Amino acid sequence: ILLMLLMLLQLLAVMAIARVENFTRSDFPVDFIFGAGSSAFQVEGAAREDGRTPSIWDTFVYANKGLSHGASGDIACDQYHKYKEDVQHMVDTGLEAYRFSISWSRLIPDGRGRVNPKGLEYYNNLINELLMHGIQPHVTLFHFDTPQVLEDEYGGWLSRKIVNDFTAYADVCFKEFGDRVLYWTTINEGNVFAMGGYDNGIAPPGRCSFPFGLNCSKGNSITEPYIAGHNMLLAHSSAVKLYYKKHKVVTHGIEDVTTAYFIVVLPFLTVSDVFKSFFIGIDQWFWCGQNIDHFECSEKETNTFLPTNEIPSIKPLKLDNIGCQIFQDVEPLYQATQHGFVGLNIYAPWFSPYSNATEDKIATQRAIDFYIGWFLHPMVFGDYPHIIKKNAGTKIPALTPRESRLLKGSFDFIGLNHYLTLYVKDSPSSLNVNIRDIVADMGLSTLVEPEDAPENQNDDTSSSLSGILEYLRNVYANPPTYIHENGKRTERNGTLNDTSRVKYMYSYIRTLLDAIKNGSNTKGYFLWSLLDGFEPIGGYTTSFGLYYVDLDDKQLKRYPKLSAHWYSNFLKGRTIKP
Ligand code: NOJ
Repeated sequence: ILLMLLMLLQLLAVMAIARVENFTRSDFPVDFIFGAGSSAFQVEGAAREDGRTPSIWDTFVYANKGLSHGASGDIACDQYHKYKEDVQHMVDTGLEAYRFSISWSRLIPDGRGRVNPKGLEYYNNLINELLMHGIQPHVTLFHFDTPQVLEDEYGGWLSRKIVNDFTAYADVCFKEFGDRVLYWTTINEGNVFAMGGYDNGIAPPGRCSFPFGLNCSKGNSITEPYIAGHNMLLAHSSAVKLYYKKHKVVTHGIEDVTTAYFIVVLPFLTVSDVFKSFFIGIDQWFWCGQNIDHFECSEKETNTFLPTNEIPSIKPLKLDNIGCQIFQDVEPLYQATQHGFVGLNIYAPWFSPYSNATEDKIATQRAIDFYIGWFLHPMVFGDYPHIIKKNAGTKIPALTPRESRLLKGSFDFIGLNHYLTLYVKDSPSSLNVNIRDIVADMGLSTLVEPEDAPENQNDDTSSSLSGILEYLRNVYANPPTYIHENGKRTERNGTLNDTSRVKYMYSYIRTLLDAIKNGSNTKGYFLWSLLDGFEPIGGYTTSFGLYYVDLDDKQLKRYPKLSAHWYSNFLKGRTIKP
């Protein structure tokens, strides 16, 4: 009997650790959404049509034909004309959401001021078509495509002037589309844009901070990537502030928070609540502070902007590094209607030490801080990670107390573009050279891609996703998260039988389910990408799409790949193990 009991226990233990093989869409939480993504430059085409002016991405691909194998975004997948057909493909696949970006220079051709009616019409049509078919639009405002006019006028993201122009552009989008679009991402992969665009020159606008980059004639200052990153953060927080102030729909039809406060709420408040609301600011109190019973902040800081229903439960949210603890243990006095959500997206691979050496392990934390912490730390804690400030020194602008207050908590969700694990090798000597790029500031020799991963690595490459989600849970208080991009790059060789992509999707989606069961606050998953569009590196020679686009066909006909069928089956309740 004892033996049988032992065997039974063993069996139960094995069952507990065995991973789910047969999962379906319905194993995910009911409000979880699945979709696919794209960006304006990569799929729209119609580059010179209906008043669109060039963006820095147009200029960059013309100047660097080598990178994109001679390709441009002039026609791309022509989604500008074929959006109805594309929405039909989404319907056929069973997508619940579509992530796309707005082309700033299509909507506001001069970068600021005059709004292009044709641009408005196009995005209204696309959004309406999606909604008519029950597909949720998730909109990104900036995906590497600064209007060229602003680049020429003041150097784009290198100038603080962009903060105002970006906020005004966001204002137009929120006002024109905000009645139907509930999910907004301000900036896509700010970390990659800063590094690729201003450090190693492989992304627009192709500037380099060190003398052997791609487009180095334009390189001039090693401070540029940090300045561009800084201005992106400021622009993000400014747009979020605007959204909360002006565009959130509040109950009783009152759209302005301050008016709603004075007319609807104030008469019902106790003296102590009035004091509290003035102390932490009306806006902040309205969205978050009502939940705060008492707070102990050494620097009079509060967690601004996290809307009540997005603050992780009722437990204390610890923001230790500024000596501030916020206790939420009372019900909100006045529950405002949450209308939309705004977030920021980062490129978020997972990082693993190349070897067991302590130096590689420490270097791995540096890599995480530079890639992930660069943008997330200011948004959660109000400042850059210590190691960035230490290694970058005066190259990185300091956040003023006001900027820091505005940034802290300035998101409803974090978007992650996650594809893989990078393996980290320490290189202390790189810290000693005078002119350094960001990888040198990180103190790394190189980041090794999975193909060259060291031996003995976990065979299941999708464990990279558990790594990053666990990190967000432990270090950044488990924010609401969307996997904005995840996908497999393959050769664009015309085959529709993309089994490697199917295997990739199967294992990443399964890992995601495990992560959610383990407490990750992930709310959605977007496959990158819907179509074989223009790829920053490789142009049209490489592909990520669920749909192959026949570039030799005048109609640019789309063909579903095996991965589209697999995703469709999964979304409709049947998961086939590849
Ligand atoms: C991230 C970028 O956001 C997107 O533009 C690109 O196509 C994918 N990575 C794949 O390279």
